[in-house]
Amino acid sequence: MERPIGVIDSGIGGLTVLYELKRQLPKEEFVYLGDTLRCPYGSKEADEVRQYTWEIVEYLLKFDIKLLVVACNTATAIVLDELKQYLSIPVVGVIEPGARAAIKSTETEHVGIIGTENTISSQAYEYALKQINPNIQTVGVACPKFVPLIESGRISGPEAKQIVQESLVTIMNDSSIDALILGCTHYPIIQPVIENVLGKRVTVLSSALETGAEVSASLTFYNMHTTKEKFPISDPLILTTGSLSVLQRLKDEIFHFTNSQVKQVSIL
Ligand code: SIN
Repeated sequence: MERPIGVIDSGIGGLTVLYELKRQLPKEEFVYLGDTLRCPYGSKEADEVRQYTWEIVEYLLKFDIKLLVVACNTATAIVLDELKQYLSIPVVGVIEPGARAAIKSTETEHVGIIGTENTISSQAYEYALKQINPNIQTVGVACPKFVPLIESGRISGPEAKQIVQESLVTIMNDSSIDALILGCTHYPIIQPVIENVLGKRVTVLSSALETGAEVSASLTFYNMHTTKEKFPISDPLILTTGSLSVLQRLKDEIFHFTNSQVKQVSIL
């Protein structure tokens, strides 16, 4: 099926998922839209998140996408069920895949979850984890300083380390936690800093790998894999509602989408 897969996020964080999707599904075409202008979603009212998410989804639908990946935990927590209900294409979020990654990893059955205020207060991860294994104990911590840090490109150095250390005190003090879910797709961009602060006791997990596996399985289930023999000549098309500068730098330095076209768009 020769149609692209659409990927949305509130900003640049969904590139961590896009990177994994492209790695697992190299023949597929992707179009990404990050709502950088209105980022972060994590501390906004639920109705605002719902409205913004629908607006970026409507924009991507113009590309005749065959499947939608909601590569934003906040939007997944608040809008996924609605999107699944009203869209006529398959929709994949990032919370269930993240929960599965943690279930596979934990031996103590004590899992930490970090995310935006909205994601943590929604308890969506707790629900997803307990659906699979009711014995899992969770500790959720909101880290509202991480997304602004990452969106501004300050992803390493003493300032990043200090913010991570201060934000993760509860996780560090709980010696039973052996797995930590990065419950925001921005956070894998500072994963080396988080791992450095937590040390080897805690396995730090993002939902990207499992989300890639779920998208691949959905394409198989709906018989939607591309039938093209050749790989696409370009990297994913990357669209943003905001500034191009940090996006341009990170897409090359971290994600190696050197052949991607990056464009600023107005969605309203
Ligand atoms: C945000 O916009 O606050 C972060 C996006 C996410 O929750 O993954």
